[in-house]
Amino acid sequence: MWKIGAKEALLALSIDILFFTCLVSGEFPRAQNVTWISTNFKTLLTWGPKPSENYSYTVEYSVVGEDRENNPHCIQSRETMCDLSASLSRLRESYIAEVLSEPPRGVALDLVEPPHTRSQAFCPYLDTDIDRPDFTIVVGKDKRSVTLNVMDPLTALFDGNQQQSIRDVFGDELQYRVTYRRHSSTGKKEYTSAGSVIELKKLDRGESYCFEVQAYIPSRKPGKQLGAQSQTQCSKGEKSFTDVYSVPVIAGGILLILVIVSVAIVVAVVCLKRRRKAQETAKERELL
Ligand SMILES: *[C@@H]1O[C@H](CO)[C@@H](O)[C@H](O)[C@H]1NC(C)=O
Ligand SMILES: *[C@@H]1O[C@H](CO)[C@@H](O)[C@H](O)[C@H]1NC(C)=O
Repeated sequence: MWKIGAKEALLALSIDILFFTCLVSGEFPRAQNVTWISTNFKTLLTWGPKPSENYSYTVEYSVVGEDRENNPHCIQSRETMCDLSASLSRLRESYIAEVLSEPPRGVALDLVEPPHTRSQAFCPYLDTDIDRPDFTIVVGKDKRSVTLNVMDPLTALFDGNQQQSIRDVFGDELQYRVTYRRHSSTGKKEYTSAGSVIELKKLDRGESYCFEVQAYIPSRKPGKQLGAQSQTQCSKGEKSFTDVYSVPVIAGGILLILVIVSVAIVVAVVCLKRRRKAQETAKERELL
């Protein structure tokens, strides 16, 4: 009897402790929708809701399986966003972040574990979105080739004072995908280039073409290979007379003109002769 009583008491006590822990740790709302937003290695962790004055958020992050670190800007802060661009410096590692709901700044932390929400794993090198590139168009002298000079988008990463481009980061793994079509048509073609200077050959002479360019990183997972598409730019169509009309057509045209002129001359001559004859016969009749 006594033994059972003790067991029950112990159970009640542990339930009390559990309940108490829940109460304390349930004091502050848990962060929701913890999400990575990353473009060109500018990497933000975002979440909600906006905190009341009673609490704050602290972000901890770590390479999976290693010690947690803090970013000094994201400790007991009232923001719902933390810029971790400079913190996630090992680009090929996979990071996990955790958002902790804590007392406001200046208020001592509880001993109990604060409510916290974990992010999904994020690897800067594989997961950051790539922004759209800008480019210029140079039409070749033969009017059948076009060169696109792509400006490699800049990243939020620095090497000393030098801002890094996506080419600096991805090196040979960065390619560009060109989508192009004749201005007058909707049929699209694709071309993939390893370099940032892209030459397209065997185009229709003098035709205007429209181009879109996007970064292409084949070593990534399918959904992450293509960057955002550039704005559409079109080359100027510069057709000379001989581009529009082939030589036989021109020769035919000249021949046709010659024929028309000859016929006109013949008709004029015949008419003139007839009129003269008519006049002469009229005169002869008068004389008679
Ligand atoms: C989290 O996302 C859901 C669905 O998008 C939305 O309804 C909810 O309001 C979000 N919560 C916060 C705190 O932003
Ligand atoms: C925050 O504090 C105010 C006043 O101190 C109180 O009225 C309110 O209920 C508190 N809110 C939360 C979520 O604890």
